[in-house]
Amino acid sequence: MNRRNFIRTSLAAAGTSLLVGAESTSGLVSTTSPSQQNVPGTIPDSEIRAARFPEGFLWGTATAAFQVEGAWEEDGKGESIWDKFTHTTGKVKGATTADVACDQYHLYPQDMALAKRLNQKSYRFSISWPRIQPAGTGAPNMKGIDHYSRFVDAMLENNLRPFCTIYHWDLPQGLEDRGGWPNRDLAGYYADYAAILAKHLGDRITVWAPFNMPWSFTYMGYGVGAFPPGRSNFGDFLKAAHTVTLAQAAALHSIKAASSKATVGSAYGMCPAYPATDSEADRAAADRYHAMNNVFFLEAAMKGHYPKAFVGEPPYELMGFKPGDEKLMLAPLDWVGFHYYTRRIVSDASHVQAFGGGGFSGTEIEADPSTGRDPYTRFRAVMPTEGPLTESGLEVWPHGIYDLVTGISQEYNHPIIEITESGCGYLDAPYDKENGRVPDARRIEFFREELAELAHAIADGARVRSFHAWSLLDNFEWSNGHTERYGLIYVDYRDQKRTIKDSGLWYGRVAAANRLDV
Ligand code: BGC
Ligand code: BGC
Repeated sequence: MNRRNFIRTSLAAAGTSLLVGAESTSGLVSTTSPSQQNVPGTIPDSEIRAARFPEGFLWGTATAAFQVEGAWEEDGKGESIWDKFTHTTGKVKGATTADVACDQYHLYPQDMALAKRLNQKSYRFSISWPRIQPAGTGAPNMKGIDHYSRFVDAMLENNLRPFCTIYHWDLPQGLEDRGGWPNRDLAGYYADYAAILAKHLGDRITVWAPFNMPWSFTYMGYGVGAFPPGRSNFGDFLKAAHTVTLAQAAALHSIKAASSKATVGSAYGMCPAYPATDSEADRAAADRYHAMNNVFFLEAAMKGHYPKAFVGEPPYELMGFKPGDEKLMLAPLDWVGFHYYTRRIVSDASHVQAFGGGGFSGTEIEADPSTGRDPYTRFRAVMPTEGPLTESGLEVWPHGIYDLVTGISQEYNHPIIEITESGCGYLDAPYDKENGRVPDARRIEFFREELAELAHAIADGARVRSFHAWSLLDNFEWSNGHTERYGLIYVDYRDQKRTIKDSGLWYGRVAAANRLDV
């Protein structure tokens, strides 16, 4: 099915199954309008049908502790900055919290069995730091360790490779009370935490990613205040980013010291950046975007210096950079992991006087496009709307993953690559006239086209060994609460019932066949 046909046949979203009534659904069936006949960015069906993935390719899904676990104060867990944030009135759309979320803390045996049913080979999950060290430092809470130990066993029993993200944004509040990520001491505390995990779980987990999207949580939390702890100070952002760079390297060493089987990589968020015009200024601005948002932490790890993200010299003093930090930053990664959701068009903002704040909706994390972002990087980045938008508002641009994967392969000497996340938010719900199935044709089309572009990059020599769809399940979408659904499996939050969406069944067939025409 090409995009034209799928639009004709797809059911538009119904927010929850409560809304799916006999009368209302017929009104939700989309029709093709003339403007949809030629959808920009569409990948030809012939390319999709010809796409092949290598034998042993690791098909996977990804989740994050805070977004799926629930059980927010069970078994001695401490408070995280996200608990505090979501318990603050006015912070989350719909006034929902993640206190229960998908209840995966209790339902993980069922969820891992579902992943196996979808022929999955890898499960990327994160560990909640405040379950392990309730206040962020000191001896481990063994109930937390035991939980993850059982969870990892459940993955292995279901033939899933446990891929552990050590930190997916849920900092213990106790460490925020000590200054949060701008406090350099957190690098050491974090390395201790990582070593605890490697010591207790490193016999079974061999694949570790220190941080999920380090640019995003430092910028959103400290630079513009849209995430906890809600500070808006560019200097705090730079300090936080530098601490995270030091922490990433310190953790690589502490993990490897604690577990001889460990391999360490990354889970960076990346958007391919295209200059708005062919001018030298815009091309240089796109390079600064790439340096700041895509490879800041990667370059630091691999080369022991920051890439050229700033106009002029990096503001070292503002960053809290000390002599000798070049050596401390160095962390030769065993493989490089990154996410792809959407792309950016970047222009120079050197002459813009007003520097704006930052808007956030889902993965769309950028500044107010009417202004430049800050007085140091001096670029303006916007998400184009040439291609169709998902219901979460992100532009669908399948070719972006090709540019990203081939670009990183060239820049970093052909590393092993893991795609740590990619996905799309659509609200399709169980439909009673289809026996309760979830006909989410738009999500299938999103993955068909994107994966065809990924197969193309692999055919051109990129050493990609995995792809993790975001997400196994619909889950708690940060400050957007339950207003976005990214899962291959539908979750009814009233009773935790899971329903595999059509996209999940399709992805399961893809995983079994290593091709897309299934
Ligand atoms: C984040 C996820 C988030 C997803 C969808 C990703 O960048 O890592 O936590 O749910 O985007 O917005
Ligand atoms: C950079 C390229 C990079 C591409 C994809 C561009 O902005 O200049 O070097 O490969 O983005 O990430």
